[in-house]
Amino acid sequence: MSPAPLDASKLTITKTTTPKELLPKEKLVFGKSFTDHILEVEWTKEKGWGVPTITPYHNLSLNPATSCLHYSFELFEGMKAYRDSEGKIRTFRGDKNMERMNRSAKRAALPTFDGEEFMKLIDKFLTVEERFVPTGYGYSLYLRPTLIGTNVGLGVSAPDHALLYLIASPVGPYFSAGFKPVSLEATDYAVRAWPKGVGAYKLGANYVSCIEPQMQAATRGHSQNLWLFGEEGYITEVGAMNVFFAFVNEDGTKELVTPPLDGMILPGVTRDSTLELARAKLDPKEWSVNERKLTIHEVKERADKGELLEAFGTGTAAIVSPIDNIEFNGKNIKADCNRETFVVK
Ligand code: COI
Repeated sequence: MSPAPLDASKLTITKTTTPKELLPKEKLVFGKSFTDHILEVEWTKEKGWGVPTITPYHNLSLNPATSCLHYSFELFEGMKAYRDSEGKIRTFRGDKNMERMNRSAKRAALPTFDGEEFMKLIDKFLTVEERFVPTGYGYSLYLRPTLIGTNVGLGVSAPDHALLYLIASPVGPYFSAGFKPVSLEATDYAVRAWPKGVGAYKLGANYVSCIEPQMQAATRGHSQNLWLFGEEGYITEVGAMNVFFAFVNEDGTKELVTPPLDGMILPGVTRDSTLELARAKLDPKEWSVNERKLTIHEVKERADKGELLEAFGTGTAAIVSPIDNIEFNGKNIKADCNRETFVVK
């Protein structure tokens, strides 16, 4: 018998008998409180995808020798469900997350799945958890699809058991300062990713190595690192977000720039949406929108000449976050977050 594909029609739902109290919006801390349920689907190499279940939120029970605990067989996605002006619940470009999750799964030797079927399961989950989707500008239900290797044993090999699951957390701002501009430290003493590495995949392992430098940056008053690469000081991304710069050229034309997807950068869904919107809405006689390499030195020089109009990060969790400062080699590159740079048609 060939292994079964993921099949949303097999879903079983067991609802909680102890629903949680909803937290008021001011008390929402990113990723700290969760909804009532968890969606899970087990996979084995022999049988394929099992019966999807939605059950009350619970801890996972794992043998201490499970592969995700030793060799980082773990990947995830970040998605959001919003309430629209009519109160209906909408997810944002979930197909993109499904594509990226499958790319990550392939790279991590974990099983791939039919993204449309998983989206159907996410929609079912959202009908069960509807009351947790907050209203209000900047508020949403953050969805965390996750895939882990669950085979037991210390030999390093492709998992023959895995678990795909989904949990969700009602959220407001990602950064603890709220919806305010962020300050970054441009980091070159450590690298996040390198050519032909795994920086373009959403593997949990990519985040681990960034935390110690982030703690160092925090001691100097910055909330995140701007990851540089190479002797040239190429700007890559921020780790929790992609990065954009708006410049004005000597002839008065303007440029919106973000580093290209060269394998060292996560292909962000918000990055893609920002580029699409900018290309569709900004006047092409005034603006060019480019995915091109740029260095921290270019940003510094252009800021010194008064040519840096704005800087911002994009991410599902971070949404569009203005950047007001980048510290590099002890010097601050300041960006003005109060301009009306982007006047759209
Ligand atoms: C997201 O934006 O969804 C992410 O996965 C970033 C994470 C560091 C919160």
